[in-house]
Amino acid sequence: MSFDAVDVIVAKRDGHQLTDAQIDWVVDAYTRGVVADEQMSALTMAILLNGMNRAEIARWTAAMIASGERMDFSGLSRPTADKHSTGGVGDKITLPLAPLVAVFGVAVPQLSGRGLGHTGGTLDKLESIPGWRAELSNAEMMAQLDEVGAVICQAGAGLAPADRKLYSLRDVTGTVESIPMIAASIMSKKIAEGTGALVLDVKVGSGAFMKDLDRARELARTMVELGTDAGVKTVALLTDMSTPLGLTAGNALEVRESVEVLAGGGPADVVELTVALAREMLAAAGRPDVDVAAALADGRAMDAWKRMIEAQGGDAGATLPVARETEQVLAEADGTVTVLDAYAIGIAAWRLGAGRARKEDPVQAGAGVELHARPGDIVRAGQPLLTLHTDTPERFERAREALVGGVVIAPTGTPVGVRPLVIDRIEG
Ligand code: URA
Repeated sequence: MSFDAVDVIVAKRDGHQLTDAQIDWVVDAYTRGVVADEQMSALTMAILLNGMNRAEIARWTAAMIASGERMDFSGLSRPTADKHSTGGVGDKITLPLAPLVAVFGVAVPQLSGRGLGHTGGTLDKLESIPGWRAELSNAEMMAQLDEVGAVICQAGAGLAPADRKLYSLRDVTGTVESIPMIAASIMSKKIAEGTGALVLDVKVGSGAFMKDLDRARELARTMVELGTDAGVKTVALLTDMSTPLGLTAGNALEVRESVEVLAGGGPADVVELTVALAREMLAAAGRPDVDVAAALADGRAMDAWKRMIEAQGGDAGATLPVARETEQVLAEADGTVTVLDAYAIGIAAWRLGAGRARKEDPVQAGAGVELHARPGDIVRAGQPLLTLHTDTPERFERAREALVGGVVIAPTGTPVGVRPLVIDRIEG
């Protein structure tokens, strides 16, 4: 059935529910170039302003899935579970998590992206390991899942191409922030990927996409409903992103910290979230009663990490790149650290060269920010709070500008409003 794009736009502009046939047509016609960018921009703005109900969001997601290929892991000997994070600063959890879950016989097909803006990308982090390769064919991915049990690689262009086109358009038309659109975008890729179970890490706070808890909760609920309706066992954790995760933000810096976690050490918050997400993934894949923390402590997760990295050409024992220059940010007074703002630190890491402004920009493997304190710590004037790393020292000044107001020291004893790391859990 064919429609007039203007009629679909007008229907949503006037607050009506779009029919299944209208949604199927408009998503398909846009992907084929029959509906123009300016028409789709008007429609996505109407959706942002007037919303979509559960049936419309589910249909929109299905139409985006139908625009490309669907992967099928039913031939694997193990169940599959994946994790998706809505993105944050210092969020390196995928790195220790995928091999940790694989230890227990659940395969992790983690299709990831590169970073854009202030949040880092998993592939950029792993590419700081000498030799590691992000692009795998579907056959290579299947073989690695069977043999190693975990793969982190680049999502192929064939997965939900409608979303790829639509996301670029939303990015430049002020329509990214629509909850139905974000939920459909994320879930179309995850459902097309074919995972049996999915755990969503929905970040909330200054360094996250969703700054406030109510919107984060609504996004999480919408995605859990979409996954559940599509037959994927889906759970969401709402987790804090007001301060960076762990003590590093930047590609090789985060790999180093992830390896510390896999060696049984590492910052407490990174360990806590890795273990919480692993438990959820394993429970959703039918392995609820395993001792996840033991596999970090006794080296089994580290063994799985080495196999995963080496299967993709990486040298797991290689020295990681370090930036050519460093500068420290010192405490200006005695007191209690009350704020280490995730957004400010993410922007600083980005400006130091850890992230990119345009898709085609290169990133610096060694660039980023290292934290020497956490909110609640008592510090003395002159004590190092942060180390800034970059290959290009002319970037230090702009990075320091990003930190203004983002690092706060109050008189000693000032109470610090630290939220729990895992704020809420939503299940289908
Ligand atoms: N990530 C996605 O994949 N899509 C969105 O719309 C937002 C974040």
